[in-house]
Amino acid sequence: MAVETEATIEERTQAFRDHVTSGGKVEMTDWMPDEYRRSVLKFIEMHANSEIMGVLPEREWINRAPSVRRKLALTSKVQDEVGHGQLLYRLAEDLGKPREQMLEDLMAGRTKFHNVFHYPTHTWADVGIIAWLVDAAAILSQKALLTCSYAPYARTMQKICWEESFHIKHGYDIVLSMMNGTEEQRAMVQEALDRWWGPLMQFHGPPTPVEKDKDLAWRIKSKGNEQLRQEFLSMYVPRILDLGLSIPDPNLRYDEETGRWQYTEPSWEELRSVVTGHGPRSQERLAFRRLNYDQGEWVRQAVMTAS
Ligand SMILES: [Fe+2]
Ligand SMILES: [Fe+2]
Repeated sequence: MAVETEATIEERTQAFRDHVTSGGKVEMTDWMPDEYRRSVLKFIEMHANSEIMGVLPEREWINRAPSVRRKLALTSKVQDEVGHGQLLYRLAEDLGKPREQMLEDLMAGRTKFHNVFHYPTHTWADVGIIAWLVDAAAILSQKALLTCSYAPYARTMQKICWEESFHIKHGYDIVLSMMNGTEEQRAMVQEALDRWWGPLMQFHGPPTPVEKDKDLAWRIKSKGNEQLRQEFLSMYVPRILDLGLSIPDPNLRYDEETGRWQYTEPSWEELRSVVTGHGPRSQERLAFRRLNYDQGEWVRQAVMTAS
């Protein structure tokens, strides 16, 4: 065998890097460097975890929704999000990590989910703010995944993005109804926005230089953290103010000269602490996920026996 004619791992990795950085796509069955496989898997796994953990704060409100129409809409959103989790765990599984292992790691706190799902929901206004603004922040990240170098993920994101854009309408409709309601309802929305603003500003993560962001280098994602936060502010600050709400950051302003939003530095320490399981509802939500998993054991047994 002519070993000398075979490309070395370094050469193959470099050729792969050139391929993805020039916009090339990677399919599940293609050769890929281990580091790329690990990075895509970790990224998709965290996304999947966030979808199924993200429904827990909303689930608490299904029975308390103020009308049948609101109950149906919220139930549908929760179903959509769980469906996203299902699609994403399948994708991650294709990259080599069994789904059982992913669920075990999530429930044991070994893997992460997004910061915004570690916080409590105090009023119905939280349901509106989550579906409108948390989903808005999420869809900006997710739209940047439509051009992901890992083609199966990019394809799946088309369906997910379509559904997410509908969630935003559902959230906006709740917020708009409350803002057109009583003084007390408007105060509820403002109070919810005041609590969610910090986590929303932390959502996309600290500004990271392009050369240090591996997910950008592999073109798993196409936009950096700060770019996404700037886009969020450009799109949603005017809409929030239009509704008569105020934003709880006295330093927030658009700088015409630089074309960028200035704001109070979010607490990156809080973000780190929250995503490592020290948020106000982290342990309670994980405990609920474990309980739910145990209660579903008989269903898994029945399905496995039947197949
Ligand atoms: Fe989702
Ligand atoms: Fe959503």
